[in-house]
Amino acid sequence: MTDTRGTIIGDRSPMPDTAGTLYCVGLGPGDPDLMTVKSRRLLSTAKIVSYFHKRGKRGNARTIADGLYSDTALELPMEYPITTEALVESSTYQNALTSFYDDKAHDLAERLRAGDDIIVLCEGDPFFYGSFMHLYLRLRETHNIEVVPGVTGMSGSWTNSGHPITYGDDIMSVLPGTLPEDVLALRLGQCDAAVIMKIGRNMAKVRRALTSAGLAARSIYVERGTMTDEVIIPLSEKATDTAPYFSMILVPGQGRRL
Ligand SMILES: C[S@@+](CC[C@H](N)C(=O)[O-])C[C@H]1O[C@@H](n2cnc3c(N)ncnc32)[C@H](O)[C@@H]1O
Repeated sequence: MTDTRGTIIGDRSPMPDTAGTLYCVGLGPGDPDLMTVKSRRLLSTAKIVSYFHKRGKRGNARTIADGLYSDTALELPMEYPITTEALVESSTYQNALTSFYDDKAHDLAERLRAGDDIIVLCEGDPFFYGSFMHLYLRLRETHNIEVVPGVTGMSGSWTNSGHPITYGDDIMSVLPGTLPEDVLALRLGQCDAAVIMKIGRNMAKVRRALTSAGLAARSIYVERGTMTDEVIIPLSEKATDTAPYFSMILVPGQGRRL
C-alpha cells in the first residue's frame, strides 16, 4: 500500500545500523567499456544482483552486466507483470505495475533489514526513465540507497552517430515516442535539437510527426546504440516502420558553428 508520494505506509521505522544498502548501478548505454569505474567496482564484489526484465527475455541491463559479477552471486530477477498487453494509461496497466513495484519494494526491504546489500542493474542512467525510480520512491525514506549514475543511451548514441547534438544556444527536447502525434509534432516544432525515445511500435507515428515538423530529413535512427549489433542510419534510409524497443531518433541541432 503506498501513499500519493509513493512511500510505503507503515514502513517508516529507521533502519538499524546493521541494515544493508540498496545500490542501483547505471550500466551505461550497452558497451560495457562505457560503464563507470564505480559501477564496475560494485559489481565485482556483488553478492545479490537484481534486475528488471520482460517475460521470456533476459533484459538489456542483465545482458550488459554479463560476466561482470561472480557466478555465485544470488540473482533476483524482477519480471514485469505486463508490458505491451494494455495501454499505459489504462487502469489495468497502472494497477498491475503499482502492485508489482509495491511487492518488489517489500521483498527488497526484507532483505535489506536482514543486513543484505543488493545491487539493482539499470541500463543507461537510473534516474533517466529508469524503472528503478519506482522502487527508489518507495524505499528512500526508510532504507540506505545509493544510486550510481551512468552514461545515458542517448549520449552513447549521439556519440557513435558522429553528430554533436547541440551547438551554441540550441535547445534540446527529449520526447517519448509514446506521446500523441499532435503533441510530438508541436514539441518538435519548438526545439532546435531533439531525442525521441521509446520508438518501438511508435515508429510510423514518430516519422509522421518529424515530417510535419520539417525535421525528418536531418533525423538519425539509432538501434541498440553502442551494443555489438548497433544500427545507425539516416531516418530517410530506414525503409520499414518496425523498430525494437531499444531504438531512438536523434535530431542534431544546427546552432552556432564557430
Ligand atoms: C526506459 S528508457 C531507459 C533509458 C535509460 N535509463 C538511459 O539512461 O538511456 C528506454 C528507452 O531508452 C532508449 N535507449 C536507451 N538506451 C539505448 C541504446 N543503447 N540505443 C538506443 N536506444 C536506447 C530507447 O528509446 C528505449 O526505448
